[in-house]
Amino acid sequence: MFELAWRGGATEARLHRRRPGGDALPWGTIDLRRYPALHGIEARRIWSNGVFTEYASAAAFSALTTAMLSCGAPVDLVAACADMVVDELFHVELSARLTMELGGAVPLEFDLAKIAPIASPGARPLLAAAELAITTSCVSESLSVPAMARSRALSDEPLVRAVLDRLVEDEGPHARLGFWFLDWAAPQLEDGELAQLARLAEDTIEVYAPLWQDVRACESCPLPRGLGGHDDLGRQALRRAVEASIAGPLARHGIVLDPARVARLASDAAPSLRGAICSG
Ligand SMILES: [Fe+2]
Ligand SMILES: [Fe+2]
Repeated sequence: MFELAWRGGATEARLHRRRPGGDALPWGTIDLRRYPALHGIEARRIWSNGVFTEYASAAAFSALTTAMLSCGAPVDLVAACADMVVDELFHVELSARLTMELGGAVPLEFDLAKIAPIASPGARPLLAAAELAITTSCVSESLSVPAMARSRALSDEPLVRAVLDRLVEDEGPHARLGFWFLDWAAPQLEDGELAQLARLAEDTIEVYAPLWQDVRACESCPLPRGLGGHDDLGRQALRRAVEASIAGPLARHGIVLDPARVARLASDAAPSLRGAICSG
């Protein structure tokens, strides 16, 4: 079961010196009686999942930091990546506190031993770091930017808005880091490796596609808009990000995605996915 531990004392003080302002958010202001019970439950599910994805992002930037050190990436770039691990851990704290204010987490089963992403077996250090940069930053974080911005726009709860403001503020640089790495790494990669990375980017986008293609199931969900849910405009923004924030910038680094596959992935619905389980 996914559970968080907190030490307090010197380590908490150090984190809050590095990431100040968390205590000033409007904690204690959500009146759950204003919402139908189902919305409250859905919000707890969304934010419990949010805590987990922030934790997984910390593991991903941590793995990317180690991979960048292994291929001799620019030191200031590696430092930025390591600092993003701390961003994500601060996001874990804020999301977990918000989840508690919504009534507490719903149970999530996950083997934490498997939380960090791994590169292809046998990939040389430069390629391994490029793989993690693409999956973690260029794809996942690039999709997280519009998703969070839309949740922020839909939310009218001051605490939810304040938490999302802090999260959204950091996501822009998180999505740019992978491209900053490619500025340095791509000229050193061989043509076959660039093609391999393009397939990896397409496969990673495909993993996320149910977020914008799984329309029918979500129409019946009690989306807790005021508590940080999603809608059709959010799905449109995600589809646009596939072309504008991922495929386009990757092509400028010589990582050219298959246009037909990208168009299919960015379409509003894949018939085979219609009616799949709700992804919230
Ligand atoms: Fe985050
Ligand atoms: Fe992030």
